[in-house]
Amino acid sequence: TKKIILDCDPGHDDALALLLAVASPEIELKAVTTSAENQTPEKTLNNAMRTLQLLGQTQIPVAGGNQTPLVKELETAGNVHGESGLDGAELPTPTFEVQPMTAIELMAKVLRESDEKVTLVVTGPMINAALFLRVYPDLAKEKLAQIVFMGGAMGLGNWTPSVEFNIFVDPEAAKIVLNAGIPLVMAPLNVTHQAQILEDEIKQVGQIDNEVAKAFHGLLEFFGIYHKDPKWGFDGAPLHDPCTIAWLIDETLFETKKMNVDVETTGELTRGETVCDYYELTGKEKNTEVMLGIDRPRFIQLIMDSLRSFG
Ligand code: BDR
Ligand code: CA
Repeated sequence: TKKIILDCDPGHDDALALLLAVASPEIELKAVTTSAENQTPEKTLNNAMRTLQLLGQTQIPVAGGNQTPLVKELETAGNVHGESGLDGAELPTPTFEVQPMTAIELMAKVLRESDEKVTLVVTGPMINAALFLRVYPDLAKEKLAQIVFMGGAMGLGNWTPSVEFNIFVDPEAAKIVLNAGIPLVMAPLNVTHQAQILEDEIKQVGQIDNEVAKAFHGLLEFFGIYHKDPKWGFDGAPLHDPCTIAWLIDETLFETKKMNVDVETTGELTRGETVCDYYELTGKEKNTEVMLGIDRPRFIQLIMDSLRSFG
């Protein structure tokens, strides 16, 4: 099994990433930490806990992370994820307590207590990851296997023409993470926009007879609304964040290519763009394995099987 910490900002697709992690025997979810982005820090923390409660995983330690990006003002995405950050379903009230420590302290605790290396999965902005690497550089070098993240794009944007939202929220944090010398795996928009769940597949989720699937049916229907705008050219809703966990479960679902990836932090039009050296023009170290293609039918099968496993 792969031991992981999931640093997220739930968020509909974050919640589905949590579900995949919990449902998979290949993954051992050691902790969940949260960052603000899709909604305010209080809401994303509460959403992570409500999701774990729904999934029956109240023993997993949860800690809330840094409140603001390193340099920028926080910007949230209520237009995508709703007022609560997880609109579309009634989720249970958590019966367990948040850990009395910060996100990076919980990350450090998990790494120290583990005899094996741990993978950090980031499906929100990289604020906590960057702080962790700065505060605990030796522990990170010794105990972090890799950082698998959803963020960035090669030549696309979903918030500005060239910038994906997770990197948009905190470009400086992303720059720290990408240049830390830790092995990186990236799920950019290029792959997550292929990782769509189609409308009739969302309906099929509604037919799965368990409480978890019923809640996720509502969540996916809500998440679909924002993505219905014809400008995106989608047939359903892009499941960005679950690509990270799916890759850890079964790498053969994806086509990847190793290349150097860095972040533009000063561009007038491109601040927050991930610059992907596809043709090896810089000669810089190939620091990132970038997902570029996905076997969508098998990916959706994994999602459906995971949802069914709660019945
Ligand atoms: C990313 O931004 C968030 O809204 C999603 O949860 C995902 O992590 C997509 O750009
Ligand atoms: Ca997210």
